Amino acid sequence: MREKIKELFAEIEDFKADTKENVEHFRINLLSKKGKISVLFDEFKTLGPEMKKEVGQRLNELKNKAQEKLDSLKEKFGNNDTSIAADTDHTMPGELTAIGSRHPVSIVRNQIIEIFSRLGFTVSDGPEMEDDWHNFSALNFPENHPARDMQDTFFIDDENKISLRTHTSSVQVRVMENSKPPIRTISPGRVYRNEAISARAHCFFHQVEGLYIDKNVSFADLKQALLYFSKEMFGPETEIRLRPSYFPFTEPSAEMDISCPFCSGKGCNICKGSGWVEILGCGMVDPSVLENSKIDSSKYSGYAFGMGIERVTMLKYQVNDLRLFSENDLRFLEQFKSAI
Ligand code: DAH
Repeated sequence: MREKIKELFAEIEDFKADTKENVEHFRINLLSKKGKISVLFDEFKTLGPEMKKEVGQRLNELKNKAQEKLDSLKEKFGNNDTSIAADTDHTMPGELTAIGSRHPVSIVRNQIIEIFSRLGFTVSDGPEMEDDWHNFSALNFPENHPARDMQDTFFIDDENKISLRTHTSSVQVRVMENSKPPIRTISPGRVYRNEAISARAHCFFHQVEGLYIDKNVSFADLKQALLYFSKEMFGPETEIRLRPSYFPFTEPSAEMDISCPFCSGKGCNICKGSGWVEILGCGMVDPSVLENSKIDSSKYSGYAFGMGIERVTMLKYQVNDLRLFSENDLRFLEQFKSAI
């Protein structure tokens, strides 16, 4: 027994640890319930009283020595078992958390803002709940115009003729009322129409309105701005074509087509073989619309345009169903991660 105690003293003395696991191994080997020192204590119980006196003291010294060594080793390697400090390598790259992606409508809205800001356009905003004056009357909509019908417009307050705006042209009026020419602004935002939801129509969608008012603004200025926009948005080969149209607030009015981005104008099923797809409405601001907002139409002229953001997005990213934009299906949305 004396021999064994001596050996263990030497073992404790010589023990060297270079990992936390080694320290734990040391504890189990010597100090656990089935460890070598416990085994000696068991043996000790069988000794006669003479021996007990002598060996007991040595045995206690051995146990204390082992415990001291363990304590100092634990201190060196971190004695708190729940602490990860000793295991953490601060030079390793951090864990990446999954991030979301921008909605395709936001991506394209930002691109539209960016392109027009290069031409000096600022961004302006207006309310989604709008009165009759800003949504219709100031824009020359006659009293009996079908757009004022319940079937097309969501009315909120019949008595005060408050509705959800049916287009962002209402912001034109607000900007003209609140600022003096020269005015050069675009107004992106959500609009609402009482339509049955399908692949090609929705009860809410997004538009961008453009307005430019100054001295001597001509139709050629409008055409050049729109050509620049189309080439920036859809690529430098893109061509535009303007077809005469009618809107109550512009005179003359036009609808603009771009050469089909899918077949480069050759004709495909998206452009129904024509080589052209429609993307916006535009025209010269009707002088009476300027006067409605107290802008002198003998001094100033201007152009305006309005386009659907979903429409531009569908043409740019080949999306064929308008409903995808509001369903929040991650399989659809995640495809736009790289487009930010
Ligand atoms: N407000 C029109 C619509 O919702 C779009 C539009 C057409 C806006 C011609 C304009 C414009 O500013 O000049 O369909």
